[in-house]
Amino acid sequence: MFSAADSVRKENVGDTVHLRALIEFSNICKNNCLYCGIRAGNAKIKRYRLTADEILSLAKSAKEMGLHTIVLQSAEDLGYKTSDLCHIIEGIKRLDVAVTLSIGERTYAEYKAYKEAGADRYLLRIETTDKYLYHKLDPKMDWERRFACLLALKDLKYELGTGSLIGLPSQTIESMAEDILFFKRLDADMIGVGPFIPHPDTPLKDAKGGTLTMALKVMALTRLMLPNINIPATTAMETLEAGGRNKALQSGANVIMPNITLSDLSKNYALYPNKSRTPLADIKAAILKLGRTVGTDRGQSIAYRLKSCS
Ligand code: 5AD
Repeated sequence: MFSAADSVRKENVGDTVHLRALIEFSNICKNNCLYCGIRAGNAKIKRYRLTADEILSLAKSAKEMGLHTIVLQSAEDLGYKTSDLCHIIEGIKRLDVAVTLSIGERTYAEYKAYKEAGADRYLLRIETTDKYLYHKLDPKMDWERRFACLLALKDLKYELGTGSLIGLPSQTIESMAEDILFFKRLDADMIGVGPFIPHPDTPLKDAKGGTLTMALKVMALTRLMLPNINIPATTAMETLEAGGRNKALQSGANVIMPNITLSDLSKNYALYPNKSRTPLADIKAAILKLGRTVGTDRGQSIAYRLKSCS
């Protein structure tokens, strides 16, 4: 299955690996997801929120490093006004790069404002399509509302990314299969799947967590079902097993998201423990060693491009 996914990746999206500069700009969260290390209830981490200038200066350094997509990710922090976020997006767009937002659930009007400010893409994982499990693990959150956010983003013509966690407590094989069918029905442009890694300062600290193999299987099947999309080799895969990222790149993945947040801050963005952090030069060397090439453009999803042309 892994080698089939590798061939389908090669035939449909080629050998290029696209790099995205990940900026984790705030870890202040209103939610309390049981699996997440930066949940509101975790009093042990130091909370931070970058200013617009700090975010812009990180984006500039990403551009100087030769990265052409900036991913602005944060916890569900309502501390930035819509106009602040739009101002940040506009500033980054002046660098002539693609902007991806990953800032959680917002209103249609907010998503529209970000798009008009220049945001190109949006990442919002559905986390699981098992609604019972979702409501158990994400108190205060509502599966239907999250799904409605994905539909709103689609309606606004964002290049859309979603994905799920693999190995949540009591998650079944059938429900992971449903996740893949959900990705297909949604006709997403990017899918990120990662193993759930228990965090010691969360209620799920004693859970078993996901395995790399199972996460790779879901990822590989996703590639077979959605041949033209972008699929990241996720940081959680590398965290679970050194070399996990390479395995992912050889089982259907074609994207890596190097973290460019200052490491002193990023250590407080611990969704899960021991989050892997590989220097950009090492990531590039690993890509070349696999016989692949490093992307030199924005790396738009082919699935999205084909839709926009039709
Ligand atoms: N292990 C792995 N991934 C996690 N995420 C949150 N907590 C964990 C964890 N303990 C993922 C969620 C979220 C993404 C940003 O990080 O899927 O959407």
